[in-house]
Amino acid sequence: MTSRYRVEYALKTHRRDQLIGKCFFSSLFVFLSQVVALVPRNGSLSLLTESPEWIKGLLAVPFVLYSQPQGVYERDGLPGTSQAREEAHRRYSEILRDVELMIDDHIAHQNDAENPFPSKLKLLVPSIGPFFTRLPLEAAFKFQDRKRYISSRRFVSPSFNDIRLILNSAQIMAVTTHGTLQLATFDGDVTLYDDGQSLEPTSPVIPRLMDLLRNNVKIGIVTAAGYTTAERYHSRLHGLLDSLANSTELTPAQKQNLVVMGGESNYLFEFSANAPHLLSPVPRSRWLTPEMAAWNEQDIEELLDIAEAALGDCIKSLNLPATLMRKDRAVGIIPATPDIRIPRESLEETVLVVQKILELSSAGRSRRVPFCAFNGGRDVFVDIGDKSWGVAVCQRWFGANTPGGIIKGENTLHVGDQFLSAGANDFRARSVGTTSWIASPAETVELLDELAELMGKKLS
Ligand code: IMP
Ligand code: MG
Repeated sequence: MTSRYRVEYALKTHRRDQLIGKCFFSSLFVFLSQVVALVPRNGSLSLLTESPEWIKGLLAVPFVLYSQPQGVYERDGLPGTSQAREEAHRRYSEILRDVELMIDDHIAHQNDAENPFPSKLKLLVPSIGPFFTRLPLEAAFKFQDRKRYISSRRFVSPSFNDIRLILNSAQIMAVTTHGTLQLATFDGDVTLYDDGQSLEPTSPVIPRLMDLLRNNVKIGIVTAAGYTTAERYHSRLHGLLDSLANSTELTPAQKQNLVVMGGESNYLFEFSANAPHLLSPVPRSRWLTPEMAAWNEQDIEELLDIAEAALGDCIKSLNLPATLMRKDRAVGIIPATPDIRIPRESLEETVLVVQKILELSSAGRSRRVPFCAFNGGRDVFVDIGDKSWGVAVCQRWFGANTPGGIIKGENTLHVGDQFLSAGANDFRARSVGTTSWIASPAETVELLDELAELMGKKLS
């Protein structure tokens, strides 16, 4: 996984030596300058990826003014520890409530076709995406503060990671308490299992996914990993598939509520207890959306040819220790041997080069076939389609017998790890449903526990 947090962590002041590093007080100025820099650079700020940074800037002011770092050695004349914590908690809560209200106002604008004026949030964040639900940020902050003691900290301000988790909790609260979760989609690598690994029978994620199915929530595993056979997906997901096959608690209908969407949006498999690898491929004619059905094979080949040539050029120009891998709906570069790690910067550069070349090519300019070029952490892939199409297919597949024929974005939650690295393939799902951004399978487990608790409360 590559994330802004990981990059930032490596650059944190405590990890820099004093010669090039900054002391705590100069970092206060950095925080203050973030507050001033609320207006996005080049309009690329989107609430999910940049908002942790943006909200972090807003929380920096009360942190600077009220965290009382000298309280650890100087007691006289300063508020007591619990008083300082309460003050910080109150101020952080107020700010998050203000952001929450700003989002409410934005949703009101979004739903009012007659109103030609942009919301305040739209003015601050021109590229803001659609909101499928409101976000109870104040309640989510209070929940995370109880877990992470954010207000008790005197030296470490509310971090990017704190805010990411607050946003996740707010989203989980919204899809359970304000609405009903009908479809949960999950990325594979880093979300359900460690990068490049498989879903083993002992994984703590499995009983939690089974619980979702027991509660009649549909599950789609929407992974970029693109294989044409059930056998390959079984080898990555065997722990879950075998548990499903052996379960005596789930009804046959509930077992049918799991699908695997591979290659982002290219291969659909449904669970099938009698199939050799517990998965049956579903012919494209049964699930392609009308737009996808219009993607032309010749355009697909042309796009992949251009991507392959661009990836080959990057291997040469950046001297990458990598080999090309061409598939029928994707092309990528992987490390030449399993022990090699291609530098993160080279992977990011490759994605950006290939993306630009594809965008400027005639196949790319015509936008006839969407594609997703992304940094997978160890490799780079260009896939036909992307996870917004993958999740949309799951919404239609499971929504076919519902009144609208589709599960709506507000009833869908996609959980993934790729929201910020170049290409960010999970971020694409943000355009069709709500999302949660996790950083490890352990975080997915925590998220699912939060979800289960809220769903349980709602039921009771
Ligand atoms: P995800 O995190 O489940 O979406 O999986 C992404 C990872 O799948 C990539 O980083 C690759 O290591 C791997 N992968 C295997 N085949 C493909 C493919 O055809 N396209 C994209 N990624 C692939
Ligand atoms: Mg992933």
